[in-house]
This record gives sequence, C-alpha cells and structure tokens, in this order.
Amino acid sequence: MRIPFIAGNWKMNLNNNEAIKFIQDMSFKFENRNNIKIAICPPFTSLRSAVIVVEDEIAKNEGFKIMVGAQNMYFEESGAYTGEVSPGMLKSLGIEYVIIGHSERRELFGETDESVNNKIKAALKHEIKPILCVGETLKIREEGNAVSYTLNQIRKDLKDISKSEVSSLTIAYEPIWAIGTGKNATPQDANEMCKAIRGEIRKIYDNGISENLIIQYGGSVKPSNIKELMAMPDIDGALVGGASIKVDDFLAIINY
Ligand code: 13P
Repeated sequence: MRIPFIAGNWKMNLNNNEAIKFIQDMSFKFENRNNIKIAICPPFTSLRSAVIVVEDEIAKNEGFKIMVGAQNMYFEESGAYTGEVSPGMLKSLGIEYVIIGHSERRELFGETDESVNNKIKAALKHEIKPILCVGETLKIREEGNAVSYTLNQIRKDLKDISKSEVSSLTIAYEPIWAIGTGKNATPQDANEMCKAIRGEIRKIYDNGISENLIIQYGGSVKPSNIKELMAMPDIDGALVGGASIKVDDFLAIINY
C-alpha cells in the first residue's frame, strides 16, 4: 500500500519571514488527513526556521503534520566548495527530504546524471530521503523518445545504488515542457510514464521495491487537476511548484 506523498518545491520564492508566515497560516487552516505525507521544500535560507516553526505548530496543533525538505545539496561532506551545502549540514537541521536533479538544476546549473548519482548516494548515506526528478523536453517527446530518455536518466542516476538503499527514494516524473507553463501532461500520459518508471525499477531491483516506490508527477499541478492525476494507478503523489507557495492552493491540492 503506497501512501500518497505531496511535496511543495518553493524554488527561489518566499523569504524567511514569508516562510514562517506560510507555515503558521497552513497550520491554522490545516484539515487533518491521516492517509497522506506532505513536505515543503523552502530555499536554504528558510530551512532552519521552517523546521522550528513546523515543530512548534505540530506541538500546538495535533492534526498538523508536514515534513521539511531541501531543494538541492552537494555530495561532498565539507571543504572548499564555495556556495554549496553538504548533506551533513542538512541532516543537522532536521531535514528529511532533498530534491535531487530538478530539471532547472540540470538546465541552468550544469547538473549531470553523474552529479545527480553522487548526490543521491550522499543523501542516502546521511539518511536524507531523495526525491529524484527526471523527465524529458518537448523536443524529445515530439520525437517519440520520452520513455527511453527518461528511463535512461533513471538507470544513470541510480547507478550502483543497492536494493537496501533505494527503498527510501521517491521519484518525481516532471516533463520539462509542463513545468511552469500551465500545461500539465494528461493524466494518461503522466501515468504511462510513471508505469514505465515502475517497470524499470522492477528490472533494476525487484517487484517489491517497484511496488512500494512512490512516484510523483510534477508540472503545472493545481487544485483543478490534482484529483484526476491522483486517480491514476501509478501516480502516487505530486511535486508542486507554483501552486505550493500559495497556502490555499497547496491545501486544496493536499485535500484533493
Ligand atoms: P510548476 O508546478 O510550477 O509547474 O513546477 C513544477 C516543478 O518544477 C516542481 O518541482
């Protein structure tokens, strides 16, 4: 039984004060849903505050239950890597999840499958659960190569990661052409890819791991399309961008 998992990727939005206000507001308006996992992934500058304010709100409001993730990290433990943040640093803040290999990082900041693979290994070593993002460009989809491209990313990104390590992984299928465009993949197309990803995980690992793997869809998820996406058998959750920085929209998505 896979528990649905909805995560908000705030990207480079909301400063520290806005992050605190967001969490307090979310807690105030929160309706208890026991059968769902929820995470928010603020920028690095708000992570410490987010963890503290979430703990405060959980202490005050029994029904409130969300987790905090980061949007990126480096794979080395420490050293001369100006501007980077290590997995140990995130762990010491109480961070539970980290988004790895988002297409914006791959496209704008030169992330490769090799660096993504190193980051996943480093996160797992520190018991931070990675949310691995994969997905194709519009050109690749139009050429008919979306599935082969995305599965190839998966094979490279999970190279040499063992069965025992991979169980805490979440995969987010985010077609690049659907991110921030308002154009979501149809639930059928998104499900087809999520099913293919599950099949690939079965091939690399085994049936048990693939059946338990949480696969999210991401790309223009909003209150109006979440329900039909979540109704698909191989879509277990969503990685939400724009709609995750508005409390009411994010709550509407969680309460789909
Ligand atoms: P949007 O929901 O804004 O399309 O962003 C999706 C995304 O990139 C989540 O990681």
